[in-house]
Amino acid sequence: MRRFRSYTLKRVNLNEISVLCSKRVVIMTSDKVLDLLNRLKENGITVWIDGGWCVDALLGTQTRDHADLDIAVHRKDNAKLRQLLEREGYKEEGRDDSSVFMYYMKNEAGDGVDVHVFEYDENGNNTYGVEYPFGSLTGTGIIAGQEVNCIAPNFMLKFKTWYEPKEKDIHDVQVLCEKFGFELPTRYAARKNYAILETERLILRPLTLSDAEIAYYGWTGDAEANKYVSWLPHLSIEDTVQWLKDVAWDQTNAGNMPRDNYIWGFVLKKTGELFGSGGLIWEKDWQLYQVGYNISRSHWNKGYTTEAMRAVLRYAAQTLGIKRVAGGHAKENPASARVIEKLGFVYDRDAITPHVDGVRHFDSREYYLDLY
Ligand SMILES: CC(C)(COP(=O)(O)OP(=O)(O)OC[C@H]1O[C@@H](n2cnc3c(N)ncnc32)[C@H](O)[C@@H]1OP(=O)(O)O)[C@@H](O)C(=O)NCCC(=O)NCCS
Repeated sequence: MRRFRSYTLKRVNLNEISVLCSKRVVIMTSDKVLDLLNRLKENGITVWIDGGWCVDALLGTQTRDHADLDIAVHRKDNAKLRQLLEREGYKEEGRDDSSVFMYYMKNEAGDGVDVHVFEYDENGNNTYGVEYPFGSLTGTGIIAGQEVNCIAPNFMLKFKTWYEPKEKDIHDVQVLCEKFGFELPTRYAARKNYAILETERLILRPLTLSDAEIAYYGWTGDAEANKYVSWLPHLSIEDTVQWLKDVAWDQTNAGNMPRDNYIWGFVLKKTGELFGSGGLIWEKDWQLYQVGYNISRSHWNKGYTTEAMRAVLRYAAQTLGIKRVAGGHAKENPASARVIEKLGFVYDRDAITPHVDGVRHFDSREYYLDLY
């Protein structure tokens, strides 16, 4: 029988290699992942998602960008899988630890698929390839609303804590523990503050660059949804990409970086759909955070923004230690006025808010809310 390679060792090596090779950052978006999974399914090939995408699938929402997709495949399907990937334009990229049962395929666009081949005998003993423990390939997750096979949560936690963590691994372990109620290992707890918030119907999570398209077509590029805000609607997806870069914040260091903005993506738990964003924006002139939000029109008037912002305000008080926040709205924006009212803000004064275009202005109302 052949000697198995250590799964632990492999993970360490892969992480190191992927950093060395990552001169150009290509994101394996949820669309690309689902396209590929659907192609595999059409061809009768079963795979299980591993790695970072597995964590996000288990959570039911994407919490960070992923450079590639890790998949586990049974030995019996491996030849078919490899042929299909080659037909789709993927070529093997040699790595230090590549072997017939562990190989990395990349297409011209730079999308990467990391394949781990395994085999069990009838008693559940590993007989070939990567030693997935028996029972580990029993997870179910959701990617962009679609159910996928993946590693079971308890095994994913084991895999993720078997090696020296990088920032993204700390993130993955924290969100897994939070979601599934696992005890957070001490070395991952030191930087706990990870800001995924959950409400009855929503998950609030960091926005990632791969959200650009959905945000642009949903709310950042919609003139109607930006009628009463002081910035301009985005004119292209590139504007939204720039905005996403501007609002990115180091979630693992939350609370240690005053004066940053804290913006979350609002996601429907039921479908995994990202439909808006909002949070706390630092107002230098006031030396206060101001609440701000903007969501797709299709989701207006269902109470989502109020629900999301209640969680944000709780987080502001409990985790960030913020004592007072400001709020405001254009007088002609009754929906925003109602959100401010439902959140319990106290009216402060009337004001004139200039638009970023330097021409327009809004007659507005300003409020504050003390947090306890
Ligand atoms: C403001 C905004 C974020 C509110 O989001 P939302 O999820 O629809 O908010 P909620 O459902 O929690 O609350 C909206 C409230 O406004 C009320 N409302 C909506 N339109 C209204 C109108 N024309 N007149 C009076 N009330 C109105 C709704 O009935 C609801 O109140 P209710 O819960 O008492 O029924 C959303 O309208 C939006 O994205 N607008 C564009 C961006 C924007 O203006 N942002 C605010 C900048 S200050």
